[in-house]
Amino acid sequence: MARLIIEGGRRLNGAVHIHGAKNSALPILAATLLAHGVCEIENCPALSDVRAATEILRHLGCEIRKDGACVAVDATAPCRSDIPDALMREMRSSIVFLGAIAARTGEAELSFPGGCELGPRPIDLHLSALRQMGLRIDEEGGKLCCRVNGRLAGCPITLSFPSVGATENILLAAVTATGTTTIYNAAREPEIVDLCEFLTACGARIRGAGESTIVVDGVERLNGCRHRVIPDRIETVTYMGAAAVTGGSLLLRGVCPRHLQAVMPLFEEMGCSLASWDDELLVSAPGRLRRVKTVRTLPYPGFPTDAQALLMAMACIAEGTSVFIETIFESRYKHVGELMRLGARIKVEGRVAVVEGVPQLSGAPVQCTDLRGGAALVLAGLAAQGRTELGELYHLERGYEAMAEGLTQTGASLILEE
Ligand code: EPZ
Repeated sequence: MARLIIEGGRRLNGAVHIHGAKNSALPILAATLLAHGVCEIENCPALSDVRAATEILRHLGCEIRKDGACVAVDATAPCRSDIPDALMREMRSSIVFLGAIAARTGEAELSFPGGCELGPRPIDLHLSALRQMGLRIDEEGGKLCCRVNGRLAGCPITLSFPSVGATENILLAAVTATGTTTIYNAAREPEIVDLCEFLTACGARIRGAGESTIVVDGVERLNGCRHRVIPDRIETVTYMGAAAVTGGSLLLRGVCPRHLQAVMPLFEEMGCSLASWDDELLVSAPGRLRRVKTVRTLPYPGFPTDAQALLMAMACIAEGTSVFIETIFESRYKHVGELMRLGARIKVEGRVAVVEGVPQLSGAPVQCTDLRGGAALVLAGLAAQGRTELGELYHLERGYEAMAEGLTQTGASLILEE
């Protein structure tokens, strides 16, 4: 199995280019299924999750052309409406295809998405919303067999939780449904806004993207368009963390600072200096990080759950004690055990983790437990004295393009050992 060998203790300096957002590219690729024509998606990151999404589109009968970071999808004539179990299991967020497949073909068959490292990943909000829009969904033998007579019907839908995926599924079902769909308590993440901008470019009629209430007036047909994916805000925080834990200074290019309003103050609380302009962000770290009093994960515009593990890696070597409260996912502390193997002092009680900063971590063999937990271990390895060997790298490949190259360019010692 491939391992990443990290020789820590080196200060990072230099510039890094941030790629397109995974969590924007995935729902947008699903949405291309709705367009009667070619959609050109620019700034698409080269990730295993994105490859899985394009494989699903190919399976459904779309033609895919890649030219660097641009992925062109021709959905003129999709011929299938099922997602094979293997592809469903490869990428849990494939559930976001359900709304698009049902809206385009009138039926859909896919297996229940497996759970993942973050605990059970229920889809009750997705299913209840689509049923309200007239989709008949039979759950049998681990499969979802769905059908609608004619077109889906728009209606008012209230989400009990501002679920990102459920909001996306409803949007994809609503844009070509009859009548109007109003989503109350919708997710407000930048990736939702990006998806709505893509759909609008295809001819959809959407109001309130980025607010808690989104109104969609269904149209007969969507056509192809060209769209550029927004920068990945979590990749941005990852590289900010790399500067912070190594006492270095990094210039991040191609970022969107306004997507980081809940993150930047915590970096400053920990002693980092930040300067941002247009699409660039300069992060400079102090000699030693100070603790962060409380990190409470919340739906956007609150602090993003995907950045929790990254801030925890920083807190491990900060002066003082930091408290983390994970309110979004049931079990998103799987990285704690691996951080403790590097010498971190962390106590977890349910959704609360208390991190007592130590002056130094020591390199050791560790394994990625999930995508963002794996990124946290990279940060901890960069900070640790000595050699850290990181395994189960496939988790990282789901969400980070050329991470080792980006860090090496700025002074890190990372060697990929096959
Ligand atoms: C998206 O997941 C992201 N994934 C996640 O990023 C991110 O952590 C999450 O949103 C929150 O921001 C993609 O966009 C591909 P949710 P999603 O539906 O849509 C519960 C990463 O690292 N829930 O907002 O699955 C759910 O169990 C990934 O890039 C229900 O109970 O998130 C969770 O506790 C990890 N029923 C909470 O809501 C449902 O039907 C948030 O889930 C749906 C969700």
